[in-house]
Amino acid sequence: MAADAQKVTEVIHWDENLFSFRVTRPTTLRFRSGEFVMIGLPDENGKPLLRAYSIAAPSWADELEFYSIKVANGPLTSRLQHIKAGDEIILRPKPVGTLVHDALLPGKRLWLLATGTGFAPFASILRDLETYERFEEVIVMHTCRKTSELAYGAEIIESLNEEPLNEIAQGRVHYYPTTTREESKYMGRITDNISSGKVYADLGIAPIDPASDRAMVCGSYAFNIDVKRLLESLGLREGANSEPREFVVEKAFVGEGL
Ligand code: FAD
Ligand code: A2P
Repeated sequence: MAADAQKVTEVIHWDENLFSFRVTRPTTLRFRSGEFVMIGLPDENGKPLLRAYSIAAPSWADELEFYSIKVANGPLTSRLQHIKAGDEIILRPKPVGTLVHDALLPGKRLWLLATGTGFAPFASILRDLETYERFEEVIVMHTCRKTSELAYGAEIIESLNEEPLNEIAQGRVHYYPTTTREESKYMGRITDNISSGKVYADLGIAPIDPASDRAMVCGSYAFNIDVKRLLESLGLREGANSEPREFVVEKAFVGEGL
């Protein structure tokens, strides 16, 4: 294999716009759950065409997993969406990111707030035992336009009922998937469902309290800004690796979205 090449072991298409895939893990790669790396394919001149991707697998996993959008004219994903088991991708083994436990102060409840592919880093955090050592409860709010876009997240939540996570995670994860443009059990934007108190009422849980609650936020630029404002209005402060506080934010992508 070429330098930094990893072999694709599995690809799952969730709908016409979303897929996930697994690749071999470089033996020397260490990462913290929630971090991202640069991955890609060679372009037509053989030069690496790389994009930032959250590692969706937890830090203990043998293989790496990624959850991806398919952008019709996207330089990378117009091609990446066609990968198959046995193909190779490029992976630069330099993980970074702010959606990590080290950037949060200790607390009792962890809120994971994502739109779209912003769920990817939380697929990692949710499958990390450390999450359940650090927090008593985890509340997952994932919002998409339509129900098919929630399928990958639902499967990850379902997988928490399997070994090795079932013993530690069971009964401690509250899952609140919502759609905004198609009918489903729970509807509405994350910001609205927190501001109105609907999510507290539907799940039967206490409101966000800066003394005990921590949050990780991952979505579009506009979503991140609005959630940041909302959390700050509730008394939480944004943290970083160098200065752990009550919440952390990362972009799910750069640009306006699809
Ligand atoms: P690009 O030229 O990169 O993007 C074209 C346009 O498509 C963008 O301007 C934007 O408007 C839209 N777009 C790009 N990505 C998305 C997206 N994920 N959701 C909605 N609209 C989008 N993408 C993933 O699919 N999964 C990830 O785990 C992921 N993690 C990221 C982590 C970070 C820190 C950042 C900055 C970006 C991440 N991205 C992720 C986005 C990713 O880097 C690429 O933008 C994406 O793969 C599309 O690449 P492209 O070359 O096909 O199109
Ligand atoms: P809505 O359908 O009301 O715009 P997108 O695909 O545009 O990135 O949006 C993904 C999901 O995030 C959609 O359900 C969308 O709701 C929601 N969303 C987009 N922007 C915001 C925001 N600023 N605050 C809260 N939710 C948002």
